[in-house]
Amino acid sequence: MYDLMLFVHFAALALGGAATFGSPLLALQIARTPVDQRTTILPLVPVIQKTGRAAIGLLIFSGAALAGLGDLWDKSAWFWGKLLLVALLVLSIVVATRAARAGAAGDAAAAARARLLGRSNIALLLLIILGAVLAFH
Ligand code: HEM
Repeated sequence: MYDLMLFVHFAALALGGAATFGSPLLALQIARTPVDQRTTILPLVPVIQKTGRAAIGLLIFSGAALAGLGDLWDKSAWFWGKLLLVALLVLSIVVATRAARAGAAGDAAAAARARLLGRSNIALLLLIILGAVLAFH
């Protein structure tokens, strides 16, 4: 069971990485596309958002299962640091999703905010991976 959950954790990490790195690239491409030509590219926004949400849901589910199965909750302070960053990332994803929605509806300031949050989410994801490595090795 532990190995299955570890597999799910890493598969979800791959999925989440694709969504996290893809979001700002998509946002950049939308910004570069003239408003009247965005109809084909805008439907990709909810697709990438759903992918990211599914990934983080799976990461939290499989991560909690791993910590429970392996009795790892009190392994190290790095683990709690990692969990704090995961909470921050979840919050940031909620705010970025709202900003992207407003941006797609024509709010330029919200679109710029969504692009900035998209980039900071990459930094958060990388810090979480660093926290995980320091916690478990
Ligand atoms: C964005 C969310 C997350 C990311 C990117 C992430 C990433 C990672 C990575 C890269 C590892 C491998 C570390 C290593 O073996 O050196 C790992 C392991 C682990 N993660 Fe996560 N994780 C996330 C969320 C969570 C959550 C929410 C929990 C617990 C509630 C959790 C619990 C664990 C545990 C217990 C391991 C150790 C597995 C093992 O090495 O046997 N993770 N995580």
